[in-house]
Amino acid sequence: MFWILVVLQWLHVLFAIFWFGFVMTLDFLIIPTVQTLEPRVQQAFGGAFGRRVPKVITPVASTVILLGVLRGIAGGVLGRLGSAYGLTWIAALVITTGLLLLGIYVLTPLAQKLQSASPGPEFDAILNRLKGLTVAELVGFLVVISLMIAMRFGY
Ligand code: HEM
Repeated sequence: MFWILVVLQWLHVLFAIFWFGFVMTLDFLIIPTVQTLEPRVQQAFGGAFGRRVPKVITPVASTVILLGVLRGIAGGVLGRLGSAYGLTWIAALVITTGLLLLGIYVLTPLAQKLQSASPGPEFDAILNRLKGLTVAELVGFLVVISLMIAMRFGY
């Protein structure tokens, strides 16, 4: 059982780094860099990037959740769902699933809408909404990471 826990957790953390690392890189490096380029280049890059991202990130994020569920079950969480540890695990599952759905059903369609919007007030409004939501997404990630650390210490 020890080695099953080790392998599950190792894979869970690896995929989690991929997902969270992507979001940080997107928010702090890719978006600010793309915004300095001319609109024609922004739309060309944004279109190609926007088509590729969900194909890679949706499976990665789903794998993070699946491995987190399996890691919890392998550690015996189902036998103590009412404990602090069990409640933290459930909260992590709910919030992380929410983050995945936010990405699929809100952020990706909004980013696609941005590609077809012509520069002006409509473009600025979509961009501001997108920026606000990415900040909310980052806050969600920080909450989930705090929950992970809490579980590490038994809560
Ligand atoms: C954005 C999503 C997530 C990230 C970035 C993430 C990251 C991490 C990290 C870094 C650890 C190692 C913590 C440590 O040992 O100090 C961990 C452990 C763990 N994660 Fe996640 N995780 C995420 C989502 C989830 C979800 C959705 C679940 C299940 C519902 C989950 C279940 C677990 C469990 C059970 C552990 C082991 C906790 C223990 O030490 O007993 N994680 N996660």
